[in-house]
Amino acid sequence: MVDRQPIALVGCGKMGGALLDGWLSNGIDESDLIVIEPHGLELTGIRSNIIVVRDPGDLKTDFSPKVIVFAVKPEALDSVVPLYRNFKSGGPVYISIAAGRTIASFERLLGNDAGIIRVMPNTPASIGRGISVGCSNSNVTEMQKELCHELFKAVGATAWIDEEALMDPVTAVSGSGPAYVFLLIEALTEAGVRAGLERQLAENLAKVTVAGSGALALEVSESPASLREAVTSPGGTTAAALDVLMGEDGIEKLMGRAVEAATARSQILAK
Ligand SMILES: NC(=O)c1ccc[n+]([C@@H]2O[C@H](COP(=O)([O-])OP(=O)(O)OC[C@H]3O[C@@H](n4cnc5c(N)ncnc54)[C@H](OP(=O)(O)O)[C@@H]3O)[C@@H](O)[C@H]2O)c1
Repeated sequence: MVDRQPIALVGCGKMGGALLDGWLSNGIDESDLIVIEPHGLELTGIRSNIIVVRDPGDLKTDFSPKVIVFAVKPEALDSVVPLYRNFKSGGPVYISIAAGRTIASFERLLGNDAGIIRVMPNTPASIGRGISVGCSNSNVTEMQKELCHELFKAVGATAWIDEEALMDPVTAVSGSGPAYVFLLIEALTEAGVRAGLERQLAENLAKVTVAGSGALALEVSESPASLREAVTSPGGTTAAALDVLMGEDGIEKLMGRAVEAATARSQILAK
């Protein structure tokens, strides 16, 4: 078994597969990667000559990657992470993308001297349009943070926070956020259908409008509020809709309550 790959990916399902796809499309050399995953690359559809190990027991004892990324389900971590404790001698940084698993829980499994980065990505990472937010413990070096930044830049934007408690609102805004946007598409589609549009047309109008508006908001320097005001003529159709959406029980209050609920849930689930 070859053992010199600097980047080890443990778990290659939906999110691990998205990361791997991003790394391969963004110039990371196949020979720099090793995947540890019981199903191989079968779940991902990725065709590659990367070394894949189905059982971590097959890794050499002197295996010493620079970075070990855990992309397994949170409930699998307690049994999976300790298997990689012995590879600490090479000074790897351990990165976890598991929702709700704190840095302290990894320190318990790997030792207080381990360099740990907790990252919250989101599902648009699968098309290279995600956003990943990282938070590290004090053992992580600037070079290791830079390496982590490079890895997650391959699947979208990145940001860092210093205070781990902020991972709960981050999870509530960007981790769970894609679901809110999909719901917006669904609701806009249904409203269009109720107003007389054929379903396929309504869905296409909703999807393209959400995608195009998001892209516009990212591309221009104006704030989202300015962009909204620019398309709202007094007494016009947009103003009529916004009177409803921005009313007493409108979207701002609703979104506030939704993010509060998700943040509270994330705090309860964290361990
Ligand atoms: N998907 C998302 O939207 C999303 C967003 C943010 C964060 N995350 C985080 O990403 C992590 C992975 O989620 P996912 O949706 O990608 O899950 P997933 O599709 O189930 O992928 C996890 C993979 O890891 C494999 N695995 C299990 N035990 C393993 C072991 N000992 N060594 C190596 N691989 C092992 C699983 O195989 P089996 O199926 O046979 O167990 C599965 O193929 C989770 O911690 C989740 O919280 C996911």
